Amino acid sequence: MTVFDAIKSRRSIRKYSTKDIEEEKLNIILEAGRLAPSWKNNQCWRFVVVKNKEKIKQLALKSGFISKVNFFIKDVPVVIVACANPKESGFMNGQHYYLVDTAIAFQQMMLTAWEMGIGSCWLGAFNEEKVKQILEIPENIKVVALSPFGYPAEKEGLYAKAVKTFAGSKNRKSLDEIVHYDKW
Ligand SMILES: Cc1cc2nc3c(=O)[nH]c(=O)nc-3n(C[C@H](O)[C@H](O)[C@H](O)COP(=O)(O)O)c2cc1C
Repeated sequence: MTVFDAIKSRRSIRKYSTKDIEEEKLNIILEAGRLAPSWKNNQCWRFVVVKNKEKIKQLALKSGFISKVNFFIKDVPVVIVACANPKESGFMNGQHYYLVDTAIAFQQMMLTAWEMGIGSCWLGAFNEEKVKQILEIPENIKVVALSPFGYPAEKEGLYAKAVKTFAGSKNRKSLDEIVHYDKW
């Protein structure tokens, strides 16, 4: 699979099999994050790998920004919480680069996982305080995103279908709509 193949075929996965992720594969996923580019190469990201079933259940039940939106992660083998130390990144033109650094690293991890048949789903709708409480994340650290990692279930499930329809997940704007040549 080429990088472009992985980019083209990747989808957010919201229903997982209970099969564990092999330790070597998990390490490759983490390595893909470790090797990402970053502001001044400061590598502000930190990752909390959650395998403890009780903690995953707590995240599933309590981490959602509203209600139980993250309930679907309750039985996944691994959740990775992508965090950052903003002091190790930059701020310019009103933009916090810790978000950029960590998003690049996390997406590299997701694509690498996908290449190995492992699905994920970027979760942005979380309650940061709750996530920090559950995982004992220090005050000065920001939580950027969470994602379950696991092998996709054979059948997608109703919740996954509903979210995809709600988000219009299959749609992408055309190049005409998003690219300008030589001037805006
Ligand atoms: C910043 C960001 C936040 C997201 N937050 C959520 C979320 O909280 N819950 C969820 O189920 N999906 C979330 N998604 C996944 C998007 O809904 C999904 O990427 C989009 O619909 C395109 O579908 P695809 O990933 O299957 O191509 C998020 C994606 C991004 C990039």
